[in-house]
Amino acid sequence: EKEVNIAVLGLGVVASGLIENLAMAKDKTRQQTGMRLSITKVMVRSKEKRRAQAEKYQLAFTTEMNEILEDPTIDIVVELIGGTSDAKRWITQALQQKKHVVTANKDLIAQFGNELTAIAKDNDVSLLYEASVAGGIPILQNLNTNFIADEITGIQGILNGTSNFMLTQMAEKEISYDEALETAQAAGFAESDPTNDVDGWDAVYKLMILVRLALGKNLSLNDIEMQGIREITQSDITYAQNFGYQIKLLAQAEKKAEKIHASVTPVLISQEHPIALVKNEMNGVFVESKFIGSSMFYGPGAGASPTAASVLTDILRIAQSKESNDPALQMCSSDLPQGELIRKG
Ligand code: HSE
Repeated sequence: EKEVNIAVLGLGVVASGLIENLAMAKDKTRQQTGMRLSITKVMVRSKEKRRAQAEKYQLAFTTEMNEILEDPTIDIVVELIGGTSDAKRWITQALQQKKHVVTANKDLIAQFGNELTAIAKDNDVSLLYEASVAGGIPILQNLNTNFIADEITGIQGILNGTSNFMLTQMAEKEISYDEALETAQAAGFAESDPTNDVDGWDAVYKLMILVRLALGKNLSLNDIEMQGIREITQSDITYAQNFGYQIKLLAQAEKKAEKIHASVTPVLISQEHPIALVKNEMNGVFVESKFIGSSMFYGPGAGASPTAASVLTDILRIAQSKESNDPALQMCSSDLPQGELIRKG
């Protein structure tokens, strides 16, 4: 039996989900893989505030990143604190200490994924981030492996659970934008500052990651046309419905003659289209490719357990590749070309 020791940075919603999922899946993964996964350190800002959780899960807390970096028994660092400053520094340090890294941080991977993948490669360790896009849907590995002989020409998706929840509630319950936002906040989907969700940033970050894997190009934030849902009123939605359409915040990218057009904007979608059936906090990714044609991936885009499930799968993939001495896993090459853009409008 092989021991795999994990350090987790942060103890928010996804980290708590990971601790719970791992406790439940421990025996199953042990039987199936012969590996014993343990979270041996959790980094938090204040140990005092976390005493109850420490006792409940019997976790060892630290407030010092060095305790993790200098601990040779830790194999995998899971970053779940979010943001792009501390997270970037700590991931870089962990990779340089030859620790594998799993993260759910879309802002960071969208903007610095290439740089961090290059550091991972140089140090012969893996950097995986399945949970950064569409929570529980295993979309990144699918794009990376199952389309290997195919050629993806376009991708469309509902990538933000909060805005999709609000648009669905406005359509089905005939409530206003403000009421829908309050409901989303009460349900725990939207942050108290919902800017990233409703203005499109969250979906833009996720689209940048998808474009890298699906279309093999790097986009910068400015390359993506972006419009959020703040201006959408209940009457816009009713009007659209009367003509057989739903209003959805759609992330889209298409490749034509090696050029890319990418956007995150509210669009009218026919009620017949499978994307129109992606409701509430669910996400859906619609892929168009040369050989398969159209395929769609559907599932929960947020939430503790689904997102933590993606994190746990990345951990297991790394543990298994380590075991069989496979080369370090990466989700994309670190030297992709900058996308040449088609500017519309
Ligand atoms: N705020 C995000 C959403 C969470 O609503 O989709 C998952 O990234």
